[in-house]
Amino acid sequence: MQKPLILAIETSCDDTAAALVDVNFDVLSNVISSQEEVHERYGGIVPELASREHIKTIVPVVELALEKAGVKKNDLDALAVSANPGLIGSLLVGVSFAKGLAYSLKIPLIAVNHILGHVFANFIENKDIMFPFLSLVVSGGHTGLVHFRSFDDFTILGKTVDDAAGEAFDKIGKLLGTPYPGGPHIDKMAKKGNPETIEFPLPMIKHDNYDFSFSGLKTAAMLYLKEHNSMTEQELHDFAASYQRAIVMSLFIKTTKAIEQFKLTTLLLSGGVAANSALRKIFKDYGSKNNIKLLYPSLEYCTDNAAMIGAAAQFKYKLRKFASLDLNASPIKGLKML
Ligand code: KG4
Ligand code: ZN
Repeated sequence: MQKPLILAIETSCDDTAAALVDVNFDVLSNVISSQEEVHERYGGIVPELASREHIKTIVPVVELALEKAGVKKNDLDALAVSANPGLIGSLLVGVSFAKGLAYSLKIPLIAVNHILGHVFANFIENKDIMFPFLSLVVSGGHTGLVHFRSFDDFTILGKTVDDAAGEAFDKIGKLLGTPYPGGPHIDKMAKKGNPETIEFPLPMIKHDNYDFSFSGLKTAAMLYLKEHNSMTEQELHDFAASYQRAIVMSLFIKTTKAIEQFKLTTLLLSGGVAANSALRKIFKDYGSKNNIKLLYPSLEYCTDNAAMIGAAAQFKYKLRKFASLDLNASPIKGLKML
């Protein structure tokens, strides 16, 4: 382990997580307590229940992360916390806890944007990534294309004008009766289906910008399900594969357009939807054909985790971008750095 050593905390949504990350982005421990069982019966996250669960689990999760890494609190050089965006009640639990601990240990506090955390999760397993790069950020709450010239110099080329890609998966998953979140289940069903069975619309692909839209596609899929209410298992698999293909294609077309326009050679997939096998495959094929370095984190660093917050925090530590103890959480969507 090489110093500085950062304890990172992530409570922006429904997972309580803590991790220890050193200056080389080596992860000494990465603990996640999932609330899936709490929210499952509601078919989505209940914000009030999420914050109450975070309060119950944050202390044991942090203690376990320290214990697994074999680190004492006094060995820590900084505390990092995701402070925006997310569910405000959930964020506040992590932010308040981190502020208290940083104050008592007299170490700097680092506020991390959750979305930037997803992007910089890529550095954990690929430590030699070079700027500039393009990142396709696809999670349950966000979808966007970001051109990074350095850690704190980036341009958001486009984002979703309505639903996020993960939301598009989860809402249709709910109609199909899959457990929450639906994304991984649709991915699994799609493997047994033919993606060319149903021709869903590819929203906004002809628009001359980098924005995405998924609500029209979602409505088309909902109508299809209404009209075909007794599908066989194979038909359901074909539906899942066709729907997934429409999401993946609209992400793929805009992303490759940006790579070509800005003459970039590195693409980072980030966020929970980067776990999707069809998305990975289409970009893998594109990358090897066009000599584009394609990177995505392994599954445990794709979906919400605290190690990614620690990785982004190491950049901020180097730049001495510390937060003051009046740091507040913010639910506002976007890549705003605090
Ligand atoms: O990044 P993440 O863990 O949380 C947010 O910050 O939103 O992303 C969660 C999202 C969910 O919408 C989930 O359905 C989606 O990632 N997801 C997937 C897959 N694994 C997770 N979507 C499609 N295919 C997957 N294999
Ligand atoms: Zn996330």
